[in-house]
Amino acid sequence: MKVSVIGTGYVGLVTATCFAYLGHDVACLDIDEKKIEGLKNGEIPIYEPNLDKLLEASKAKGKFPIFTTDPKEAISHGEVIFIAVGTPPKENGEPDLRYLEACAETIATHAQDDAIIINKSTVPVGSGNWVYMLIEHANPKLNFHVASNPEFLREGSAILDTLYPDRIVIGTEDAFAKQKLAELYKPLVEQSFEEPSYCLRPEAIACISEKEKIPFIATDITSAEMIKYSANSFLAMKISFANQVANICDLVGADIVEVMNGIGSDSRIGAKFLNAGIGWGGSCFGKDVKALIKIAEEYDYKPDLLTATCDVNYRQRNLIIKKLQEHMKILKGKRIALLGLAFKPNTDDLRDAPALDIAKALIKLGASVSVTDPIAMANCQKQNPDLAVKYEDDVYELVKNKDAVVLVTEWQDYRDLDLEKIYSSMNGHKIFLDGRNIYKPDEVAKLGFKYVGMGREAKESKPALV
Ligand SMILES: NC(=O)c1ccc[n+]([C@@H]2O[C@H](COP(=O)([O-])OP(=O)(O)OC[C@H]3O[C@@H](n4cnc5c(N)ncnc54)[C@H](O)[C@@H]3O)[C@@H](O)[C@H]2O)c1
Repeated sequence: MKVSVIGTGYVGLVTATCFAYLGHDVACLDIDEKKIEGLKNGEIPIYEPNLDKLLEASKAKGKFPIFTTDPKEAISHGEVIFIAVGTPPKENGEPDLRYLEACAETIATHAQDDAIIINKSTVPVGSGNWVYMLIEHANPKLNFHVASNPEFLREGSAILDTLYPDRIVIGTEDAFAKQKLAELYKPLVEQSFEEPSYCLRPEAIACISEKEKIPFIATDITSAEMIKYSANSFLAMKISFANQVANICDLVGADIVEVMNGIGSDSRIGAKFLNAGIGWGGSCFGKDVKALIKIAEEYDYKPDLLTATCDVNYRQRNLIIKKLQEHMKILKGKRIALLGLAFKPNTDDLRDAPALDIAKALIKLGASVSVTDPIAMANCQKQNPDLAVKYEDDVYELVKNKDAVVLVTEWQDYRDLDLEKIYSSMNGHKIFLDGRNIYKPDEVAKLGFKYVGMGREAKESKPALV
């Protein structure tokens, strides 16, 4: 099928590459000339595991996508046109829809008759109909179809999530669009494509029998838009729940990891997304929960659970500062090392990254802050030229003479640290603040560190029971 993708960010580029790998003829449009120039030469502008290999594989099959900044070339190409532009939050929490609006106008000018316009960007409920109206208004002669196809991929495992999704959701009241999209997604639904050897299906999928398919959920456009917001809000809420319970664990001396293991094994609850810590960040959770709050408020409904989900999350970042203050009292002049900048492992994305807020708060209090990250340092330097931190490639160099080390992002590299070596090169307070509860408190404390967890502590430091 001839597929156009507008926007070559995390979602657009992954979607385009996967469709090309599946054998479709793909054309990608972006307004960022530098990005497109690089992509033409196979240079990937983001860090996403296996994306380079999959693009290479598409090239080998003669399906390397067209990358262009020419709207006519990209849009007139598509029988199906995916919109995957950003919908970043405005100051008031509403998503900024100006990129979507620009897309609608360009599509109206260049789309072929009977094109199916599919929105993959996360947009407020009602946007599908709004896009339809914009296109119809701009080009009344065009015959076109509209659908919503919310995206659930996670940065860091985006290729796996696209090739082996938990479900595919299509929202449209248009029978032609539904049939065409079912056809486009058939190889994924039936899992009938040739698996790339470097990108094998995750274990969970491997146990699905050959005949079982990926659920293809067809619904109306408004429900599809709601599915995306509610899925992200629910995941964010699970993490905030774990964090709220962790804070209570801190007070009563319970261990959050054991508590969440205990509740997660209940199949009604599920074990995933119950890791307490510094909380979520990234470009989606905060934006989407706030957008759903806005939608509810427009109808005079007070969505208390969603508001609390955000409040609990962002308080966790301050909690790191409070915990450091508890142990070192005054932070002015203290030397603090942060492990991890990206909002989560396996990505270079710094959008709403807790590490940035934590670093800024520490600097404001007069601490001297050093940071490291396996992938995101260059991005951080580029995007935050005024951030007064010292960058260090090597973890063991970073921790030298520091009072405290804070594990912010749970990169694999930080799961297996030589803690003895770290302890011996630190100075002063020698605090290890495990912001993601990776290490066993007693093992860290045994080395001499002052261990600080998020809802757990070393046994020796627990208050005696009365
Ligand atoms: N990143 C994720 O993990 C993720 C997951 C699911 C859904 N989403 C949603 O998908 C959408 C895209 O997210 P992203 O992270 O890929 O964004 P991004 O910022 O990485 O990429 C957006 C791209 O669109 C381009 N663009 C903007 N206006 C354009 C226009 N008029 N024509 C052509 N290109 C244009 C930008 O230059 C940029 O390259 C958002 O709505 C987001 O909420 C993101």
